[in-house]
Amino acid sequence: MTTLVGVAESLARRAGLTALEGRRSGDLGESAKSSPTDIVTRYDRLCEREIVDGLVSARPDDAVVGEEGASRPGTSGVEWHVDPIDGTANYFFGLPTWSVSIGARDTDGPLAGAVYLPVLDEMFTASRGDGAFLNGVRISPRDVTSVADALLATGFGYDPAARAAHGRTVANMVGRVRDIRRLGAASVDMCFVACGRLDAYLEAGLNSWDIMAAWLVLTEAGCLVTDFSGGPVTAAEVLAAPPSIHRGIMELHDAARTA
Ligand code: IPD
Repeated sequence: MTTLVGVAESLARRAGLTALEGRRSGDLGESAKSSPTDIVTRYDRLCEREIVDGLVSARPDDAVVGEEGASRPGTSGVEWHVDPIDGTANYFFGLPTWSVSIGARDTDGPLAGAVYLPVLDEMFTASRGDGAFLNGVRISPRDVTSVADALLATGFGYDPAARAAHGRTVANMVGRVRDIRRLGAASVDMCFVACGRLDAYLEAGLNSWDIMAAWLVLTEAGCLVTDFSGGPVTAAEVLAAPPSIHRGIMELHDAARTA
C-alpha cells in the first residue's frame, strides 16, 4: 500500500511537471483573484484538478480542501490541504521559488506532506515521527544561536492594510537580524528554514494549504512552529525557527510590532 507521504510526493511531482510545461507554453491564462496583485493562472486550476483526481482515486475516503476551490468531505478523519502552485506570482514572473504543496492532517495535526519545487527539482517530504527529507536526504535547521546572526524570511499576504502594517514591523526588525528575505512562497520559506537555508520565518494571514505540508517538514526537522505568542500555530500567524532562536525572534517581532 502506498504511504500518505508517497501519495503526496507522487502527486506533487506530477502536478509540478504539468505546471512547468504550462510555463514553457508561454500562455498562462492569468487573472486577478482577491486583489489585482493576487493572481491565479490556468495552471493553478489544472494542477489542483489533477491532484484532487489523484487523491480521490488513491484515498477515496479522505477529505480534500484546495486553494482554487476544491472542497470534498471525507469519512476517514484524514484531510488533505492542497496548494497547487504556492507562489503564483513567482511562477508568473519566471522566478524559481514556487512549489506544489500537499499536506495531510488528522485531529492531532499534520500527518504527511510534500513540497515540490519543480524548477529546482527539489522535493521536501515528511511524515509524522519519521523525520524530514530533501530529495531523500534527512534535513535539519542551521545551528544558529543568536537573533543578530539570523537570516529571516517573511511574506506580506494580499490585504493592503495588513501589508502596510507588516512593512512597518519588518522595517523595525531589519537592523536587528542578519538580513530579511521575501522569497514569495510560504511553503518554500518554511522548508528553507527546515534545511538551514534560512533561519526563521514569520507571516500572518496565510491559509491551511500554504502551511500544512511545510509545517510538518519543519517540526520533523526539529524546528518550533507557533503563532506569534508562542501558542499553537494557525494559518493566521506562523512563526518558525529552531528552538535556539525561536523565543528571541518572537520577542523581537513583538517589540517591532508595537514600536
Ligand atoms: C502566497 C505565497 C506568499 C505569501 C502569501 C500566500 P499563493 O501563496 O505563499 O509568499 O506571502 O500570503 O498567499 O497565493 O501564491 O498560493
